[in-house]
Amino acid sequence: MAQIIAEVSRTFNEFLLLPNRTRTDCSAATVDLRTPLVRHVAGEAPAIELRSPFTSAIMQAVSTPELAIALARNGGLSFLHHNQPIEDQAAAVRQVKNFKAGFVTSDTNVRPDDSLGLLTEVMRRTGHSTAAVTHDGTATGRLLGLVTSRDFHPQRHGLDGPVSSRMTTIADLAHAGPEITLSEANARLWDERLDCLPVLDAGGHLQHLVFRSDYADNKRFPNQLVDADKRLRVGAGINTHDYRERVPALLEAGADALCFDSSDGYSDWQAQALSWVKKHYPEIPAGGGNVVDGEAFTFLAEAGADFVKVGVGGGSICITRDQKGIGRGQASAVLDVAAARDAFRERTGAYVPVCSDGGLVHDYHVALALAMGADFVMMGRYFARFDQAAGAKLPTRDGFVKEYWGEGSNRARNWQRYGQGGGRGLVFEEGVDGYVPYAGDLDEGLALTVAKLKTTMVSCGSATLPEFRSTARLTLVSDQSFQESHANVTLRETPGTVS
Ligand code: IMP
Repeated sequence: MAQIIAEVSRTFNEFLLLPNRTRTDCSAATVDLRTPLVRHVAGEAPAIELRSPFTSAIMQAVSTPELAIALARNGGLSFLHHNQPIEDQAAAVRQVKNFKAGFVTSDTNVRPDDSLGLLTEVMRRTGHSTAAVTHDGTATGRLLGLVTSRDFHPQRHGLDGPVSSRMTTIADLAHAGPEITLSEANARLWDERLDCLPVLDAGGHLQHLVFRSDYADNKRFPNQLVDADKRLRVGAGINTHDYRERVPALLEAGADALCFDSSDGYSDWQAQALSWVKKHYPEIPAGGGNVVDGEAFTFLAEAGADFVKVGVGGGSICITRDQKGIGRGQASAVLDVAAARDAFRERTGAYVPVCSDGGLVHDYHVALALAMGADFVMMGRYFARFDQAAGAKLPTRDGFVKEYWGEGSNRARNWQRYGQGGGRGLVFEEGVDGYVPYAGDLDEGLALTVAKLKTTMVSCGSATLPEFRSTARLTLVSDQSFQESHANVTLRETPGTVS
């Protein structure tokens, strides 16, 4: 006979945190959001630790290289999606690993014989006023000179003349070799009164430009998540179909962590694939999931998973529960899995971090997920709203929206994530295709969420996430007390806020 689990399946909206005593040395300024990403011996330092407990969903609409760069600069980690050819995903990994803060790949490039008219058009398109003049007009061609919008006037010099007539040639141009560090480059910008310093390889080909105007920008990110060579870290999603080819290519490209991406990770396929990765590439962390209970967590932890993702059916674009009747309220799932993680640690001495994936709609849901035991969270909808995500930004009557679509939608058709027996296709949709409110730049949006999380932790008397997890007190809310949570007056008009 089927087993009926006595406990009701609950979600985040049904809980509130009770404030705990806050000591004078616990303030938003002292709260530490570091958290382990990967399996480690309990009590010892993990090989990779997030500086902030946020990861972005393994989705076409979300985890672009641009978003991965922005998130890692803020201390979190993206998992680049695997619903693309292996070489494209590897190139995306390389793009993040090659990012050097302050070292910009030139996007405004011309050839010396291009006209000043073309140069004006290129500058208008990119919005930048410094152009590299390379032998072939590419960002990595041999550098012949620089030309800025201050070097020519359309009426005075005409638009038909060649760029070479107004550029500063390489012979008169300060430039640097490939070994220069950012602080050395910044020192030269100030000492030599330069606006821009080109960095060239040994053959004189352009590698990067360093701009004086970016100096302050680089100071803004004290929490960057970087590897031993100071390169930003990036994760990559993988699947149980082509991992034998995909994993080596991603490692070659420099991925720091992998994650099996499946709507249902409690399967022999995932255990076999995890064992294969652990056997052939023991040095690369590989997470597993998704699961919703302790039994499935233990299964994947025993198969070698370095972290386990929790969540089935709670995602904002998800219709798995409607379509298949499978899933569990995200709060119940996280509580159950976190208990299994602690039992696993007691039994084996290994700590396998837990990620709460999907269904986080309000900022305070992040705090609840972490209080309930998640080591970090993964979000799709949240990150899809930012400039750096893949979806187009579209105007509406009330402002802007961004496109956001599920991996199980007809638009993404990620058959590797959804085992429906349909070969290389979906038999039915498990996700929808829609829009989310546009929320601007990731840096600003995430800073706000982090500020709220820290303030919640301070109210709960916790200066660290492990302390938050172990001391949090949560209460269930009735419908009536839920109503009480919201403002109960007629609101004065305020500038639009986005949730
Ligand atoms: P969100 O943060 O609520 O938008 O949920 C994002 C999560 O939903 C992802 O990390 C996936 O685990 C899951 N997901 C992504 N695409 C789909 C889909 O098409 N159907 C169901 N779940 C999905």
